[in-house]
Amino acid sequence: MKSLSFLSPLAPQTPSSTRRSVLAGITGALAALILGAGLAAAKPASPAATAAPVAAKGEPILVGHYGSLTGKEATFGQSTSNGIKLAIEQFNAKGGWKGRPVVLREYDTKGEAREATLAASRLVESDKVVALLGEVASSLSLAAAPIAQKAGVPMITPSSTNPQVTAIGDMIFRVCFIDPFQGYAGAKFAHENLKAKSAAILIDQAQAYAVGLGAEFKQNFIKFGGRIATEQTYTGGAQDFTAQLTSIKSAKPDVIYIPGYYTDVGNIALQARKAGITVPLLGGDGWDSEQLAKIAKDAIDGCFYTNHYAPDQPDPRVRTFIAAYRKAFGGSVPDGLAALGYDAANILFDAIARADSLDGKKLRDAIAATKNFPAVTGDITINENRDAVKSAVVVEMAGDPPTPKYTATIKPK
Ligand code: PHE
Repeated sequence: MKSLSFLSPLAPQTPSSTRRSVLAGITGALAALILGAGLAAAKPASPAATAAPVAAKGEPILVGHYGSLTGKEATFGQSTSNGIKLAIEQFNAKGGWKGRPVVLREYDTKGEAREATLAASRLVESDKVVALLGEVASSLSLAAAPIAQKAGVPMITPSSTNPQVTAIGDMIFRVCFIDPFQGYAGAKFAHENLKAKSAAILIDQAQAYAVGLGAEFKQNFIKFGGRIATEQTYTGGAQDFTAQLTSIKSAKPDVIYIPGYYTDVGNIALQARKAGITVPLLGGDGWDSEQLAKIAKDAIDGCFYTNHYAPDQPDPRVRTFIAAYRKAFGGSVPDGLAALGYDAANILFDAIARADSLDGKKLRDAIAATKNFPAVTGDITINENRDAVKSAVVVEMAGDPPTPKYTATIKPK
């Protein structure tokens, strides 16, 4: 365990189950890199370069990540963690910051707001990290962001899309688009590509993300001339969706919009097909997990969701990232969370270099000044609300078993 250079050797508070799940994600080539065999020996970029980059060895720079490494949304935290680790490994192999390596301190939120708050407090107050990366779920970022804000420690959420998250204060950033845009993108796709005239909406009322995104879809779909056939709710973790699906079936919508998280969406898809509902389901980034098709199987075939990236995009930056990730993590294909985790960490490292400091306020100013950063999920410019303005992609779950296939790009309004 000591040889895992980017994981803090000083993490006694981390429950051992968390440590195990963290370590379980590291296989193959990344393990080799961590052991010092890989990137550090990279060749000079050109004949003019005099020396190969030297791997960082100085006093560690602690960066915190809090995410759902276990629980109903476990792949969110695990994928984000992998993306962050790959970015750290590459950064350290190139010499880190002034020869100092970044070391990751990471805690499991189990997908619960209370745990997210605890994790953020621990990272900020006890570990004294220079910056926080996380959470994925908007409700958990909303719970933890006030801690970072109060402590003057910059926080970058890779993937929380609810607009309220960055409104918490000037220390809070994101590298993804926000739900007013994602709802527009879903509605535009339903209207233009699916030619839907009416939509049912099924919302997880326990998630700020789902409530906000559902409202944005509705507003935009109506603007496009669509009609909302029925609106139904559930609470994340529910097992039986019969009542809602019965109402939806009799409302005869052309499409069902479900802005929830993958475990629930998988169960809903199964039950919808059993109930004889055949229209496409449409959702948002919360669907993005290899678990979705594991749960729903062919019930999710021919369904669509808006996302930050598609693994089959031809973009050379995407191809390079996927190759490095697959090599590091035993061949697994990175989902959107992995790409965003990687991007969030790289934006932080870029800001550290430009700030030439680890001071919270200086880092904040540097993150805020990020312009046209060439990220895997698109060029990132941070706007006056500390959000990123970017395109969304629409993917279709297709094939056997269904996997996300790039379908469309929707540009910012
Ligand atoms: N956008 C979701 C939220 O804010 C989280 C998410 C992002 C999930 C990307 C999957 C992929 O809650």
